[in-house]
Amino acid sequence: MTGQARFTIQPGGTLQGVLRVPGDKSISHRAVILGSLAEGETRIDGFLEAGDTLNTLNAFRQMGVPIHHSGGGRVEIGGVGLHGLSAPSGALDLGNSGTGMRLLSGVLAAQRFDSQVVGDDSLSRRPMGRVIKPLTEMGALIRSEDGCPPLSIQGGQTLHGIHYAMPVASAQVKSALLLAGLYADGETCVTEPAAARDHTERMLRGFGYAVDISGSDICLKGGGRLQGCHVDVPADISSAAFFLVGAAITPGSDLTLKHVGVNPTRVGVLNILGLMGAEIALSNETTVGGEPVADLRVRGGTLRGIQIPRAEVPLAIDEFPALFIAAACAEGETILSGAEELRVKESDRIAAMATGLTALGIANEVFPDGIRIQGGALTGGAVESFGDHRIAMSFAMAGLRADGPIEVKGCDNVATSFPEFVEMALSSGLAIRVRHD
Ligand code: S3P
Repeated sequence: MTGQARFTIQPGGTLQGVLRVPGDKSISHRAVILGSLAEGETRIDGFLEAGDTLNTLNAFRQMGVPIHHSGGGRVEIGGVGLHGLSAPSGALDLGNSGTGMRLLSGVLAAQRFDSQVVGDDSLSRRPMGRVIKPLTEMGALIRSEDGCPPLSIQGGQTLHGIHYAMPVASAQVKSALLLAGLYADGETCVTEPAAARDHTERMLRGFGYAVDISGSDICLKGGGRLQGCHVDVPADISSAAFFLVGAAITPGSDLTLKHVGVNPTRVGVLNILGLMGAEIALSNETTVGGEPVADLRVRGGTLRGIQIPRAEVPLAIDEFPALFIAAACAEGETILSGAEELRVKESDRIAAMATGLTALGIANEVFPDGIRIQGGALTGGAVESFGDHRIAMSFAMAGLRADGPIEVKGCDNVATSFPEFVEMALSSGLAIRVRHD
């Protein structure tokens, strides 16, 4: 029996070559959900084969959806239609995934059968009130203890459309309500305070479902049908982000990331690195399945610290751990505010990154909604991932600029989003090894 994986990274090196990181996690979840609820066949290419998305796939299998998955990113789904799911024999385990749990809550709230959704320790601490409250307004019956998982969802309710002004810009909340809205009487409208990723809206249209978007209002009417289709999943910009940062902080690096999703609601990491002075060029820009993609070539150089514009926060929400490493290597200070959402991700990402940066000699000051990072010289040292995949991969990239070895503890959860990380990082020039405690 082996224990938790631990990364050790020898200092130095550069990142070189051409990589295609695995498929987009958000789009992969949605492709399985909509493919299962559609009529007819859906074929997915480029599906992310990682813990989080496989848990969503298994949840639909447990509800009787025939899903053929033979690896290589190809998934074939025999859609059962909006009313064709059957009661699962046990609880649906969404593992580490907030997206899986929140989006499924919207679907399950509208079913005839009762269900229970559970998750791992990290997910069991994450707030679900943000979906329970508006779904309850729609007529759902969801029980939880203190608004955290596990959730018990009572079937057989009639849902009605609501107009909901989201208090935070959350794509998960928006998506849960739109999914419930497919089953609701009348119109369901969500108003977002700032643009959150719009993959659900794009994909609903790809499955032939009408979605009205006017300014910050996203509306649909219940009672329609989804038609199975082909979904081509781009490479995940959130996984590409570790490599973008790794190459950007190391003079001499020259790395190309192929076929990366560059949906405007996801490109905060490119915008922020650009403001910091990183050299990133887009080429081969095209659209697949309604989603823009491009190849990204990044060359290493000197970065400067910046005040991160608030408008970029929702567009880069998952990339801040990696961006904090860029800030640590930049000249001057970088300030982030308006990002309290980082406190309720797979870990408290402000606290987790601050602790690790301090251990590596980088001065920082934590605020309730952000952090100030003073660029400086990274030392070697040991850091904790707090079980958070993105914290682990971010600190791995810090090894490129550290003056001694870095050890990252608790890295098993890297497999929730990016099982090939170590292999790809090694092949592009990071001196990383995995050990088991
Ligand atoms: C996601 C939305 C974001 C993001 C998460 C994936 C999605 O969460 O952090 O990793 O696929 O909808 P919020 O909606 O909570 O901001």
